[in-house]
Amino acid sequence: MASKILFVTGNRHKLEEAGRILSPHGISLEMAGCEKLEIQAGTLEEVASFAAKAAAREIDAPVLVEDSGLFIDALGGFPGPYSSYAFKTIGCRGVLRLMNGASDRGASFRCAVAYCSAGDEPRVFTGVSEGSIANDMTGSSGFGFDPIFIGRGGRLTYAELDAESKCRISHRGEAFRRFAEWFTGA
Ligand code: IMP
Repeated sequence: MASKILFVTGNRHKLEEAGRILSPHGISLEMAGCEKLEIQAGTLEEVASFAAKAAAREIDAPVLVEDSGLFIDALGGFPGPYSSYAFKTIGCRGVLRLMNGASDRGASFRCAVAYCSAGDEPRVFTGVSEGSIANDMTGSSGFGFDPIFIGRGGRLTYAELDAESKCRISHRGEAFRRFAEWFTGA
């Protein structure tokens, strides 16, 4: 029987992707009925750990939390941990404007997944997907900055890939697979 774990997120795209990644490992996810507590911190690991510990305490059950972001080399790693705010404010078009004329288009998507049981310390699993910022927005699947991110060695943006292909190479795929290996003792 599949293990069911509560996932603290309000983002249905993250829930869908994480569920797809974990299902071959016999793990299914259910959206937790509590908010992800977002602290301002310099790293995704700190943000995810803090939120996981708070949520596990609040609902008195083991939870998963993930925090992710887009780190752009030419912008000193911006927006990084502030990606959610940057997406809401300037969006993909704003990032393309900031990158106008930049010859170094290197970037990475990063993800930190924290698992925590009530009263325990969180365990954190990370994933990175290196790539570059496209010149234009292309594609319509996925979410967030997918239309402007091209994975390493690829030609297509994440928004041009189907969900299965994105999860195979994405930051989220790597982090959740690491969690699954630890959780199932594989
Ligand atoms: P948070 O993890 O909820 O703080 O949000 C991170 C933000 O980074 C999201 O709102 C998206 O804009 C962006 N982001 C994170 N992962 C992805 C992804 O897989 N594709 C596109 N954008 C992403």
